Amino acid sequence: MRGLIPAILILAGVYGAISVGGGLWLTDREAVAQSATGDPAAGVVVDGQVPGNTLGNSSDAELWRAIRQGVEGNISSPGAQGGVLIQSEGENWRAVRNGPVSKYGVWGLLGVIAILAVFFAVRGRITIEAGRSSQTIQRFNALERFSHWLMAGSFIVLAVTGLNMLYGRYFLPDVIGKEAFAIITSWGKYGHNYLAFAFMAGLLLSFVLWVVHNIPNKTDLNWLLKGGGLFSKHSHPPAEKFNAGQKILFWLVTLGGFSISLSGLGLLFPFEIPMFAKTFAFLNIFGFGLPEQLTMMQEVQLAQLWHTVMGLVLTIVIVGHIYIGSVGMEGAFDAMGDGEVDLNWAKEHHELWVKKTLSSQASSDGSK
Ligand code: HEM
Repeated sequence: MRGLIPAILILAGVYGAISVGGGLWLTDREAVAQSATGDPAAGVVVDGQVPGNTLGNSSDAELWRAIRQGVEGNISSPGAQGGVLIQSEGENWRAVRNGPVSKYGVWGLLGVIAILAVFFAVRGRITIEAGRSSQTIQRFNALERFSHWLMAGSFIVLAVTGLNMLYGRYFLPDVIGKEAFAIITSWGKYGHNYLAFAFMAGLLLSFVLWVVHNIPNKTDLNWLLKGGGLFSKHSHPPAEKFNAGQKILFWLVTLGGFSISLSGLGLLFPFEIPMFAKTFAFLNIFGFGLPEQLTMMQEVQLAQLWHTVMGLVLTIVIVGHIYIGSVGMEGAFDAMGDGEVDLNWAKEHHELWVKKTLSSQASSDGSK
């Protein structure tokens, strides 16, 4: 017992010494650190020497310059993308997407709506001049209508969810709240990814069903020269199953839709479907002078920009198509509704097609 008290006193002394000494040492370190961060002069590089000595204190300007310029280093994990620490093109991509692409997209969409509003105010609804007859003629069969609505329905969802991805964050969180915006955007993204396949199927089927009716010919020139009769109440330039305006729409949808689909696949499977370097190499045959060496990251960025631009262009075109196929023209919607259109409507808008259809019906009736 007698030895216990001195032992406790010694231990307490050692503890005290350690605590006070350690505390003083820490306080000293903090003071040094604070003075180092507090005084900007202490952080200045002098003769290539940086403060601190964790990994050596010489600043390798060449190394940092290379990193800043996106030079790829060696890494042991799979996927070479990780070897690039700073990818400057990412900043350019973001600036182009959120800058001119978004801006001109809005102008295009508002522009087409304004044009249609002016057209409607001046020309009004395009009516059936001869009035409705009591007869109808089949314009599109069930397969054609299924194909159209497969393509159209999916496109509308793709367009709305795509526009939300581009513009939604600028105003929707204020209108519906951040949580609701996050939910609709993440579900919208799923819808966008999966419905893309329905769109591609509809696009392919519509192409197969309608391509024969969309080969341009002399009739189209006459139709175009007369403005399709759109600007005059009594002009009905003759047309076959599809007039020149519809043929233009068909090829815009086919080629634009194909291009959107391809770039969309490039985004669904990133770093797996490079296509721009090869496309640029082909275009360079015609003297475009485009870069042919692209990293996989640049491939994805270009796919994203192209996908957005083509998506906006096609959406703008389709707004015009929806107008003319619904409120803009009396009797037009029936063609994609039950497939039967009024005979007078058909004669005014597709005279040559009506003649051909009625004569082939008559000859098949006669041969029975
Ligand atoms: C609510 C939306 C839509 C409506 C009301 C609509 C209406 C119509 C109508 C009535 C026709 C037949 C015109 C005729 O008989 O001559 C048609 C044809 C067609 N539609 Fe649509 N459509 C819509 C959306 C779309 C979309 C989103 C696409 C493509 C992405 C599309 C592509 C086509 C094509 C290629 C044709 C054949 C060429 C033509 O007639 O212009 N449609 N549509």
